[in-house]
Amino acid sequence: MVELVGLAAGATLTLIVVALHYAKGTGWEAPEDISQEVLEQRAATVPETDFPEPYNRSIGGGGATAIPAGEAEGELGEGEEAEEEDEGFDPDDIAEDEVEYYEIEFAKEGETIEVANNEPLLDAGEEEGWDLPYACREGQCISCAGHIEDGPAEDYIRHSNNDSLMDDDMEEGYCLTCVAYPTSDFTLETGESP
Ligand code: FES
Repeated sequence: MVELVGLAAGATLTLIVVALHYAKGTGWEAPEDISQEVLEQRAATVPETDFPEPYNRSIGGGGATAIPAGEAEGELGEGEEAEEEDEGFDPDDIAEDEVEYYEIEFAKEGETIEVANNEPLLDAGEEEGWDLPYACREGQCISCAGHIEDGPAEDYIRHSNNDSLMDDDMEEGYCLTCVAYPTSDFTLETGESP
């Protein structure tokens, strides 16, 4: 009797296993790729800055708490204005007979040199053999910044490109020497950034 019960239980279990084996499950579908959506949402929650990479960490959230959204907007507007004003100035457009020279006193180097209005202040200083600070040489960082003693900077120089300084910085006399071309005589302190 016991054997019959065991046999019946075994047969039932076998039938269950076979039935499960052939039963159709619910199909597996790969989830939709939402990585781009997530990136866009994160980017939308932090203010953009006017700084180029590597300073712009907005996607990573680095600037989110440091800059209140309102202020960031204001600063960006100013930065954009600065860029717009600088756009259009190309030193290569200055004809040979329009090249003018200005007396620039490099205060820390203790010398006054003539710099043409189609030559960046940084290049002119380097030609004198001075070891002046720089990194990108394209107006995109702030390594080469200098201070014009009698600022505002726009009264004395023109930038061919400026992705780093805000209007307020230039108002205080700061310039990017790698992309700054003189339009007047002035005294410059190299290695000074806002
Ligand atoms: S060297 Fe980078 S802005 Fe001049």
